[in-house]
Amino acid sequence: MDKINLVELGPRDGLQNEKLPLPVETKVALINRLVDAGFKTIEAGAFVSPKKVPQMANSGEVLAKINRPKGVSFPVLAPNIQGYEAAKESGADTIAVFASASETFSQRNINCSIEESMSRFKAVIDAAKKDGIRSRGYISNVLGCPYEGKVSTSTVIELTNKLLEMGCYEISLCDTIGVGTPLKARKLIRDVKSEIPVEKIAGHFHDTYGQALANSFIWLEEGVRTFDSSVSGLGGCPFAEGASGNLATEDLVYGLEGSGLDTSVNLEQLIEISRWISGELNKQPASHVTAALQSR
Ligand code: HMG
Ligand code: MG
Repeated sequence: MDKINLVELGPRDGLQNEKLPLPVETKVALINRLVDAGFKTIEAGAFVSPKKVPQMANSGEVLAKINRPKGVSFPVLAPNIQGYEAAKESGADTIAVFASASETFSQRNINCSIEESMSRFKAVIDAAKKDGIRSRGYISNVLGCPYEGKVSTSTVIELTNKLLEMGCYEISLCDTIGVGTPLKARKLIRDVKSEIPVEKIAGHFHDTYGQALANSFIWLEEGVRTFDSSVSGLGGCPFAEGASGNLATEDLVYGLEGSGLDTSVNLEQLIEISRWISGELNKQPASHVTAALQSR
């Protein structure tokens, strides 16, 4: 059976935009429960400015307190050397750098140009290599930018190649504002695949327009085997106008397992987690599967 790698982003992309501050204990419980449900990669936090993203301010404490069984990795965002040093001090095993395919979003998100961001990321990835810490890469807005609209595929390919050359083990191509449609997503991945091995690519779809599951399955058919998603469909980027939640992990797991693919995740446990964390945030889960199984 084909194995699919799921990168669970609930504790980071999922929570970063939540106004209600969550205590360290709740975040630790969330991550520990996700480990128990079978995830092998769980993004645990972000070492970014606490003024910009207050919800991520306690990421160091979270990382220090979670259970970290062998074989599970816990990436954290590190946009610059300052963030990298703090992540390393907290015991991070994997860091993630995050570039944008559009200039305006780069400025709004990380306060620098794309070019400047790439030199910051090189410094971070070089330091990580020396310390035996792995690096993952993100590229935002690959199917459209909230400020500039259309984004150039050649920029996406160029940045992906650069981050791979710097030493990232995988690049997650992100539809940050969920505007992509299945046939546009297919065109993009085919263009990317013509220059980059598909094993190096992960799919990251926000579900703003309800296209995220369809887009993920198109990429699956094109050979992508790693997908980012967020329990309960939590998520959104404070610097991308109109960006709402990520693809709900329950919906992705239901779709993949129901198609005979192996995610290693226990769906029943995942649904329990989704209900619980939504309750902690005073909201309803944004997952079709969790809603459908509500009465059970
Ligand atoms: P900056 O303002 O350019 O940095 O921030 P600076 O070097 O000018 O420093 C200004 C202040 O920030 C200083 O503090 C620094 O100490 C502090 P002050 O002296 O004013 O008190 N600082 C930091 N503090 C903590 N950690 C750091 C750090 N660096 C500087 N690493 C920076 C640059 C990138 C840090 C800032 O703009 C920032 O934090 N932006 C937020 C980025 C972010 O977290 N965005 C959301 C996540 S990305 C996302 O959601 C997209 C993704 O999911 C993919 C997708 O869907 O597209 C990944
Ligand atoms: Mg995202």
